Amino acid sequence: MTSSESADLFARSWSLYDHITEHNYMFHQEIYAELSELLKQRHDAGQYHMLDLGCGNARYLVPALMESLPGHYQGVDLSQTALDEAADYLVKLPSVTLTHGDLLRAVESTSDKWDVIFTGYALHHLPAEDKAKFFQAAARCLSAGGWLVMVDVVRQERQSREHYLEGYLKFMRETWSKVPPDQLDEACAHVESYDFPESRSTLNEMAQTSGLNRSRLISQYAQHHTLLFAGDQLKY
Ligand SMILES: C[S@@+](CC[C@H](N)C(=O)[O-])C[C@H]1O[C@@H](n2cnc3c(N)ncnc32)[C@H](O)[C@@H]1O
Repeated sequence: MTSSESADLFARSWSLYDHITEHNYMFHQEIYAELSELLKQRHDAGQYHMLDLGCGNARYLVPALMESLPGHYQGVDLSQTALDEAADYLVKLPSVTLTHGDLLRAVESTSDKWDVIFTGYALHHLPAEDKAKFFQAAARCLSAGGWLVMVDVVRQERQSREHYLEGYLKFMRETWSKVPPDQLDEACAHVESYDFPESRSTLNEMAQTSGLNRSRLISQYAQHHTLLFAGDQLKY
């Protein structure tokens, strides 16, 4: 997907995504409650700076951020519609930058060090070679003891993309019952065209090649995983 295709897509379907998440079909409630606990630990250890790649409107992250205020928060997204909403949700945070652009370019070009790099349900849109570049770039700009926290859909080991899609589309059609049929069709078409999840072992390999030798599964709800990657100085 090109940058402008993705931006167009989210301008059109942002309200659909909000609808899906309001019914907790992608486990945002559980996952963001866990993130809140993680950020509390980070905050208790001292001031932290956070980079959120593919931040969307940041709606579900805001309560966690409010409990554990970061020294600085930067959100990056391709969708200006989502960023405009994010600006409202994040208004009470002391220091916020919102950047309209590609997440890989943002993490590759940052000259800052980040204590927490977060990415929620965005990385699976990237082709495998860009995911590998993403890990390289994230490892380079994490502070000593920093965390890369990734929420995303993950394929089972040795499961083909086709087999994964078959399962995920079935899950959507069987459980996303409150999404109107035409919108469910749109969501399914989006997943079929743009979702390229990796297996956990592939993600671990990409992370290790980049020097992020520690990885931890924080939680798993069906295909929806929360993973934490860090270098050898991991404190968790
Ligand atoms: C499914 S939403 C997730 C939003 C939020 N992080 C969450 O966990 O609910 C994915 C977001 O990633 C953004 N996105 C997808 N590919 C991107 C890219 N290459 N660069 C920046 N943002 C991207 C989309 O615009 C969208 O806002």
